[in-house]
Amino acid sequence: MIVVPGPASQSLGKKIAENLNAQIVPVNLKNFPDGEYCLRFEGDVTGKELVVVQTTGPPQDTNIMQLLLMLDTAKELGAKKVTAVVPYLAFARQDKRFLSGEAVSAETLVKLIEACGVDQFITVNIHAENTLKRFSVPTKNLSAITLLAEHFKGRGLDGAFSLSPDKGAIGLAEEADRVLGGGCGWLRKERDRYTGEIQVEKKSLNVQGRDVIVFDDIISTGGTIARAIKMLKSQGARRVYAACVHPLLIGEAKTKIMKSGAEEIVSTDSITSSVRTVSLAPLITKALAR
Ligand code: R5P
Repeated sequence: MIVVPGPASQSLGKKIAENLNAQIVPVNLKNFPDGEYCLRFEGDVTGKELVVVQTTGPPQDTNIMQLLLMLDTAKELGAKKVTAVVPYLAFARQDKRFLSGEAVSAETLVKLIEACGVDQFITVNIHAENTLKRFSVPTKNLSAITLLAEHFKGRGLDGAFSLSPDKGAIGLAEEADRVLGGGCGWLRKERDRYTGEIQVEKKSLNVQGRDVIVFDDIISTGGTIARAIKMLKSQGARRVYAACVHPLLIGEAKTKIMKSGAEEIVSTDSITSSVRTVSLAPLITKALAR
């Protein structure tokens, strides 16, 4: 097996290769003044089983394009099997046509990846698992929530309450609770489909004096999780932590969350960020080894 750490997942890709004791084929990018680039594998991939690791966080369009170029080129050059490891799949929140006339972006992205001849697709905590049904090749959606919960347990937060800031993500809080054992719950969030504004419904949570960890798949602007933390603090929660799998952390997200009363933000390295991270490498390595 050969691992190709894509330009957007250099560090994670290298860790996975190291864990697998696999050879690395680096990718070279030659940039042109107009913003285009030429991508080149710096090693022979013919007849090989390739694992291409490339996340698609911001800048999404660039990272997606590089992913497609790597997958398509690997097949063109005669790779025997190509597995795409895309820790964060961009556009996955647009998995349906919420308003008439909208693009179903997740579906378009899946079509493009599949058209490049990928043989297997692996991702982590995809926003809506039904997106993967559109692939005809085998797929895996790994969950990093247990890893995150174990991280908190290792720091003495055993027994903390696990909260999901959105009822649709209650599965995340339930998974964390299987590790932390302090009970779990959810909030109800509404998003205005035109303005993107969110409202979090008030709810009594019985968290007086308790440590709480709020788990979400994505932190983008930080609005969702900051609102949840404010509500928890106003109800007397002791220490509140923000945890997510995919730290997009756009603009002032980090400041917003810390100002809402969070002790810390913990995420995975699905996307390079400035918060404390728990690496996905062991999880992805295990899936590849299987
Ligand atoms: C959406 O439903 C996701 O699960 C996250 O809750 C959302 O993307 C977070 O966005 P933001 O950080 O901008 O509130």
